[in-house]
Amino acid sequence: MGDTPQTARLEIADQQEDLPFVGSTAGNSGVAVTSLLKDTGYVTVDPGFMNTASCSSDITFIDGDKGILRYRGYPIEQLAEHSSYLEVAYLLIHGHLPTAAEFDAFSSRISRHMLLQEDFRGLLAQMPRSAHPMAVLGAAIQTMTAFYPESIDPMNPAAVELAAGLLLAKMPTIISAIYRRASGYAMLYPKKGEGYIENFARMTFARPGEDPDLPPALIKAIDTLLILHADHEQNCSTSTVRIVGSAHANLYASIAAGVAALSGPLHGGANEAVLNMLAEIRDSGRDVKTFMKRVKNKEPGVRLMGFGHRVYKNYDPRAAIVKAHAHELLDALGVKDELLDIAMEVEGIALADDYFISRKLYPNVDFYTGIIYRAMGFPSSMFTPMFAFGRLPGWIAQWREMMADPQTKIARPRQIYVGPTARDYVPIEDR
Ligand code: SDX
Repeated sequence: MGDTPQTARLEIADQQEDLPFVGSTAGNSGVAVTSLLKDTGYVTVDPGFMNTASCSSDITFIDGDKGILRYRGYPIEQLAEHSSYLEVAYLLIHGHLPTAAEFDAFSSRISRHMLLQEDFRGLLAQMPRSAHPMAVLGAAIQTMTAFYPESIDPMNPAAVELAAGLLLAKMPTIISAIYRRASGYAMLYPKKGEGYIENFARMTFARPGEDPDLPPALIKAIDTLLILHADHEQNCSTSTVRIVGSAHANLYASIAAGVAALSGPLHGGANEAVLNMLAEIRDSGRDVKTFMKRVKNKEPGVRLMGFGHRVYKNYDPRAAIVKAHAHELLDALGVKDELLDIAMEVEGIALADDYFISRKLYPNVDFYTGIIYRAMGFPSSMFTPMFAFGRLPGWIAQWREMMADPQTKIARPRQIYVGPTARDYVPIEDR
């Protein structure tokens, strides 16, 4: 990109507008249009914000062409190999890797709060068993506003700190409870002294009267998947969290809105959609070629789910790590899954087909994750709640950054009005 110039000159008829640049430490710099409407009477138009930065951020960096993802400067590959979800949560929220003392204080405070009050469990137990887990999860997070009123003032740093800790503490217990409710099993309690991921796995997979089999490969796979989902700069759900928070809605309300955005099949709901797509191909007699033809013909409702990305125009680095873990975990659990073979076949065909190559469509984080969650025993409806579990620290970090940014204003985009111009009311008898 070369050195960023000082200003960009915009010429409109006989008017010239010099727009200042906003420089970056990596990736795209930006042209600030904050005075455009006032000075020229024009607004910018950018559906989907494909060319628009909503903020400056120092949390996560993505280079979509090179397939680079870094949290606070640390490459995702190193964090997935060496770190843990709770340590990455600390890094995203506080901006640095914790010392041993900082991590002990952070993780023990979270472990102390994993228990859900009986009334809260009772609410989850009243939800229909057939309810989609994302609907229950969004309701549960919003309900935290009612159960923890001492942590809802968004302008009180101590309250926000408490809310962030309560969210990280209750999320595993809530998600395991949602899964147990849907599966017809009694909700379990967190065990004092047990690890955070181990507690989640036991509360989720323990069967009545049995000690759960929780191989280290399962615990590592859960922890790694949560790390890979922890943040992804200004994606749809994170932008939603920021927009809701910009109205000074509390952290729970903002994150519940993020859960709603993430449930969409074009976003976090894609991991569930990928499994349904692979099962459809299996049930068609594994006729992958016909399916791929339907995708390329753009048949309504037919997309290669788990492929493509607004930012990555290369292989999503998270997908590569998930793919490696899928093989490792299935071997460790002794699980053979035909859908993994089909996924590999689909990937092989797509990566060699000009339709996908010319559109820079590569596997994204959602393409293989469902295979792993399925091998763990989750139904596909639980895949997106697991995505939300992973993304929680990123949402918290991005919300805090938005609230602390002096440039933050309530989010209120403009529009290009193309409707009827002024006209008078016509009484019904004259219509
Ligand atoms: C996530 O933003 C993030 O960071 C999100 C995320 C995160 O961590 O938060 O990474 C998580 O949401 C990953 C994406 C999960 N979604 C899916 O896997 C659903 C399938 N993918 C697509 O729907 C799509 O690729 C999007 C939504 C992800 C991105 O869409 P864009 O950037 O708006 O691209 P587009 O729809 O304008 O498509 C450009 C072209 C079109 O073809 P032409 O009109 O040029 O002929 O590519 C085609 C599209 O038809 N295309 C696809 C396709 N995705 C795009 N064709 C077939 N299958 C696909 N999946």
